[in-house]
Amino acid sequence: MSPTYRIAPSILSADFARLGDEVSQVIASGADWIHFDVMDNHYVPNLTFGPMICEALKPHAKTADGQAVPIDVHLMVQPVDELASAFARAGADYISFHPDASTHVHRSIQNIRAQGCKPGLVFNPAATLDVLDWVIDDIDLILLMSVNPGFGGQSFIDGTLRKVEAARKRIEASGRDIRLEVDGGIKESNIRAVADAGADTFVAGSAIFGKPDYKGVIDAMRSALAR
Ligand code: DX5
Ligand code: ZN
Repeated sequence: MSPTYRIAPSILSADFARLGDEVSQVIASGADWIHFDVMDNHYVPNLTFGPMICEALKPHAKTADGQAVPIDVHLMVQPVDELASAFARAGADYISFHPDASTHVHRSIQNIRAQGCKPGLVFNPAATLDVLDWVIDDIDLILLMSVNPGFGGQSFIDGTLRKVEAARKRIEASGRDIRLEVDGGIKESNIRAVADAGADTFVAGSAIFGKPDYKGVIDAMRSALAR
């Protein structure tokens, strides 16, 4: 069975002066999820947006016929729990965090689940997947970084493909329905290779928001995935 692919534009590369319009426009152009990069100038050397912006954007995260579009919150913050709770209240659907940013990973996962959101774990390029030995049954999303977190517009790190394969094997062994998402440097030219390695969900920031025609880019990505 072929996977159901999801394209998740990262609004990190959107026009911050018109975020609501940008979210509406990228959804009208075919986005499946909205990827929301939260940076705290502590875990990563950059600072973006918090739960109040997420809450303000929530009404924009729907299709023209009123279907909700999931908000995929990627926390690059330390500590994790308090902000994760604030994002749950702000309307997040998925909330993912870096295990090395939480002292008690299992507790952070349970905290996200208890508030009605889907928990995910994020792995930096040099991070091992070993923690999955113990918590894969508790999460709904694995997010693999294919760049170092903190900035949009970086180049895809090729070694990620091997990690995607390793994560896919772990998901298959678990027998659970877990999304495998890849984040950083994804564009039309490499999305097929990332899918072939086993990913089913693709974050793309600069590749989409850096072009005037969002639909053109998303359609081209979908055609590459369909080949
Ligand atoms: C980087 C962020 C990414 C970023 C991806 O820390 O997690 O989501 O927006 O941007 P591009 O697609 O430009 O690499
Ligand atoms: Zn991200």
